[in-house]
Amino acid sequence: MPRQLKKVFIFLDTDKHASSFDILTIIDTFPDAAILKYESVTVEDAEKIVYDAMFPRGPEGAKQTKIFINGHNSERVNEVLEKIRECMFPPFELAIIVDPRGAYTTAAAAVAKTLEFSLKKGWGNLEEKAVTVLAGTGPVGQTAVELYASEKANVVVTSRSLERASSVATKINKKYEREKVRGVEAQTSEEIGKAIEDADIALSAGAAGVQILPLETLKKYGRNCKIVADINAIPPFGVEGLKSESDGNEILLDIFGIGALAIGKLKNKLEVELIKRAAEEPKGVFDYKIAYEAARKAIFKKFKEEKSFEVEPEKYWLPY
Ligand SMILES: NC(=O)c1ccc[n+]([C@@H]2O[C@H](COP(=O)([O-])OP(=O)(O)OC[C@H]3O[C@@H](n4cnc5c(N)ncnc54)[C@H](OP(=O)(O)O)[C@@H]3O)[C@@H](O)[C@H]2O)c1
Repeated sequence: MPRQLKKVFIFLDTDKHASSFDILTIIDTFPDAAILKYESVTVEDAEKIVYDAMFPRGPEGAKQTKIFINGHNSERVNEVLEKIRECMFPPFELAIIVDPRGAYTTAAAAVAKTLEFSLKKGWGNLEEKAVTVLAGTGPVGQTAVELYASEKANVVVTSRSLERASSVATKINKKYEREKVRGVEAQTSEEIGKAIEDADIALSAGAAGVQILPLETLKKYGRNCKIVADINAIPPFGVEGLKSESDGNEILLDIFGIGALAIGKLKNKLEVELIKRAAEEPKGVFDYKIAYEAARKAIFKKFKEEKSFEVEPEKYWLPY
C-alpha cells in the first residue's frame, strides 16, 4: 500500500514573531495540513532548515512539503528565497510561496482592482496609462510600481527622498529594460499634487495610519485623475475622503475611489490562491507575478461571463 503523505507547510519568517495572519490563512485553506513554524530566520538558518526538510520523506514526500517565506523586510525575504533555491535540486524541489507581510498579494490586488475598474468604465487596460504610486518605496508600493511597469504604464513613484524614489525607478527600469518609471520627491501637499497632476490613476501606498493625499490637493491637482486607490486601512487613511470600503464610489466629480478594505478582500483571495497553487504543484515559486496573473485571469473570466466586455479579453493579455 502506498504511504499516505501529509501536506506540510514549513513557515519561515524573518521577523521575530511569525505572522498569525498567514498561518491562519494556511490553516483555513488546508485544515488537515501540518505547519512547522520558524521565526527570526536568517539566510544561514534557512539553508539548514530546508536541507533538513528535503530528504526524510523521499522525492514523493518533497512534493507534499511546501515552504512559505514571510517577513517585513522584503530584501531579506528575497535573500532567503535565493538561498533556498540554490539548495534544491531534482527530485528534491519544494514549492515555495513568497509574500513578505502580505506585500505581494496586496500590491497584486491593488493593481488588479484599478485595472478592473478601468476596463469596467471602458477606459481600456493599463498600457500607456499615467500612474502615480504615492509613497511607493515600501514593499507594497515597489511591487505595485513593478506590476504597473509590467503592464507598460508610465509610472511616477514618489518618496520624501528623491534618492529613494529614484532608486526604485532605476531598479525596475533595469529589470524591464525600458524607461517606464520615474522617481519624484514629494513631501508637501503641493509636491504631492504636482506628482498626480498628469495621472490617470493614483495609488497611495504609504505607511499605515499616515495621510498622504489631502482632499484639497486632490481637488486642486487631480483634474486628470479617474481612479484613486489607497492601501492603508488604518486611520487616518492615505487619501482623505476615500473610505476604506469604497469600491469604485465617486469621491469627487469624475474621480472614483478604491479603498483598502476593497483591495484587502481581493488580497485575501489571492493569498489563498497562491497557497492552493503551491499545494497542487510539486515545485516552483508562487509570488506576486502568480498572484497578479491569477487576479487578471479572474477579471477577464468575469467580464467574459457577464458578457460586459465588447473586446476579446485575450487582446489585453500581457504575458510576463
Ligand atoms: N490592505 C491590506 O490587505 C494590506 C496588507 C499589507 C499592507 N497593507 C498596507 O499597505 C501600506 C504599505 O505597506 P508597506 O509595508 O509597503 O509600508 P511601509 O514600508 O511601512 O511604508 C511605505 C512608505 O510610506 C512612506 N512613509 C512612511 N512614513 C511616512 C510618513 N510619516 N509620512 C509620509 N510618508 C511616510 C515611506 O516612504 P519614504 O520614506 O520613501 O517617503 C515608506 O517607504 C501600509 O499602509 C500597510 O498597512 C495593507
